Amino acid sequence: MEQLIEKLINAFGPSSKEEAVKELIKSELEQKVDEIREDKFGNLVAHVEGSGEKLLVAAHMDSIGVIVTDIDKNGFLRIGEIGGLRKSFLVGQRILFENGIEGFVYYEDKESNWEVKDQKIEKFFVDIGAYSKAKAKELVQIGTEGIYKPNFYKSDRRIIAPSLDDRIGCAVAIQTIKNLKKKKIKYNTYFVFTVQEEVGVKGSRTSSYEIYPDIGISLDVTDAGDTPETYPVSLNLGEGPTIKVMDGGMISSKYVRDELIKVAKKENIPYQLEVISKGTTDAYAMQTTKAGVLSGSISISTRYIHTGGEVADLGDVENAVNLLKNFIEK
Ligand code: CO
Ligand code: ZN
Repeated sequence: MEQLIEKLINAFGPSSKEEAVKELIKSELEQKVDEIREDKFGNLVAHVEGSGEKLLVAAHMDSIGVIVTDIDKNGFLRIGEIGGLRKSFLVGQRILFENGIEGFVYYEDKESNWEVKDQKIEKFFVDIGAYSKAKAKELVQIGTEGIYKPNFYKSDRRIIAPSLDDRIGCAVAIQTIKNLKKKKIKYNTYFVFTVQEEVGVKGSRTSSYEIYPDIGISLDVTDAGDTPETYPVSLNLGEGPTIKVMDGGMISSKYVRDELIKVAKKENIPYQLEVISKGTTDAYAMQTTKAGVLSGSISISTRYIHTGGEVADLGDVENAVNLLKNFIEK
C-alpha cells in the first residue's frame, strides 16, 4: 500500500496535466478490471461489472499547483494558482515544473523583515536559477505548470508528503479494486479517476453526467482537527476513515451515509462522522447531476491539506479500503 502511495505521489499531475498519474493507474489496473477507458474530458474510467445498481466511485488524479504567468527581465517567474494554495506556506517551497525544471519560491520583501505580509499571489516569484530572461524562456513558458516537489516520507504509521490530496484517494480506489472478490460484487461499479477537481470538480461533473449512477461516492482527504490549538474539527488521524455528513459544498445523502455506517458496524471497521465547514469533493458535482444522485464520501482525515507536507495515517487508508470493499461486495 505505501509503495503504491509513494508511486502516486511521485507522479506529476497538477490540474489539466494528469497524464503521468493516469498512465500509472492504467498500468496498475489494466489486468484487474472488465474495461478501462479514457473519456472525452480526460477522466480514467475503470469498470468492474456487477449485476446490481450502478455505483460511481471517484478519486481525483489532479493536485494543486502553480502556473507561470510571466517571466521578468532577470529570469524570475511570476506565478498564478492552480486550485487553492495556502499562500502563507508558499515561501520556501521547492517547485517541480512539468519538464523537470525546479525552482524555489520567494516573495517581494521590501522591508527585509522576513515576513509575508501581503499574500496576494502577485507578490511571490519562483527562482529557477536562470541568469537571464532568455535563459528562463528556454526552460519554461507562460502556462508551464508546477507542483510542490514530491517528497515522500513514512514513519511506522504515518505519511508526510505533498499531493496526498488526492493520490491517497486514488490509492484507496486502486487497492479496493485489487481486493474485490469477483463473485461477491454487488454493484455495477465505475471507478472514475477524475481530472480537474481542484479547479472546480470538473471531471466529476462530466463523468457523473455520462455514467449517471444510482449511487456516487467520492474518495478524498478531509481536514483533521488534532493539531495543537487548532480550529475545532472533530476528526483525528488514526481513528478510522470518515463518512461525510456535510462539507462546504454538500450535505451527503442520508441513504449513502447510513449504508456506509451499516457496513462499518457489521465489519467492525472504525469510522468517524465528518462535518467540516470548508472545501468539498467530487461528490458535490455528482449529487446534482441530472435528476440527482444519492451521493456521499469516504475521506481520510489529513493535516495541512494543500501544503507541501500533508500528513495522514496508513491505518485510516487501509480501513477505507476495507470499508469500500465491503460496501461494494454482497
Ligand atoms: Co484539494
Ligand atoms: Zn481533494
